[in-house]
Amino acid sequence: MPTQSSPTRYGAVAQAFHWLIAALIVTQFTLAYMADDLPIGAHKLALLARHKSFGMTVLMLAILRLLWRLKHPPPDLPDHMTPLERKLARATHIAFYVLLFAMPLTGWTMSSAKNYSVSWFGLFTWPNLIGKNEAAFDFLRATHDTLSFILFGIAVLHILAALKHHFWNKDNVLLRMLPFIKSQKAESEK
Ligand code: HEM
Ligand code: HEM
Repeated sequence: MPTQSSPTRYGAVAQAFHWLIAALIVTQFTLAYMADDLPIGAHKLALLARHKSFGMTVLMLAILRLLWRLKHPPPDLPDHMTPLERKLARATHIAFYVLLFAMPLTGWTMSSAKNYSVSWFGLFTWPNLIGKNEAAFDFLRATHDTLSFILFGIAVLHILAALKHHFWNKDNVLLRMLPFIKSQKAESEK
């Protein structure tokens, strides 16, 4: 499987980043809402510690993904897309990249503002970004929460758009992001 994106298909590296980060985002929402339902205690703290570790993993992967993306342009969009659809697709992808940084950074700074350390799976501890500050904690917690709703909303639109391309427009947009697809359509057709 080619590692580089071609004019009609995402390469293996771009696909790996996409699906790994997508799976981590689902994990993040699951862990956060499981923790939300629990009273303060060891189980809640363990779930939040996992949430923080996976969240910091998203930050590291987002840096690598962005660097890769800057050097490897994505495949062209299909010819049938209108200028508005192209703008929407581009805006969605930019918003995703911004949120892949903003979610972990607000989470990390929020934890710092409470003076809670952020460990990475118990292997090492990230430095605190700011000192203890209750007002900053409240603001960052609300921001993390609001951004998570925006991320959720964009993800729903994004998934609906991918399904529309596949089942309505019947183009190659979904197939070219899927690994192990060897059909003629995924390789060549726009
Ligand atoms: C892509 C990465 C992340 C996503 C998608 C994400 C998403 C979420 C969501 C959906 C919630 C629940 C909000 C609510 O209660 O309404 C949450 C809570 C929380 N997140 Fe994250 N998060 C991410 C990264 C991080 C990171 C890196 C940290 C810390 C280092 C962090 C720390 C927290 C904490 C402490 C809470 C609980 C806040 C509270 O007390 O209610 N998150 N996160
Ligand atoms: C929350 C999870 C997800 C995130 C954060 C995400 C993010 C992204 C981003 C940033 C891109 C642009 C890639 C680039 O050009 O650099 C992209 C493309 C794409 N995503 Fe997702 N995605 C998610 C989930 C999904 C799911 C579940 C599907 C399938 C139903 C999907 C289908 C696609 C497709 C088909 C493309 C290629 C679009 C094109 O060719 O222009 N994504 N995604």
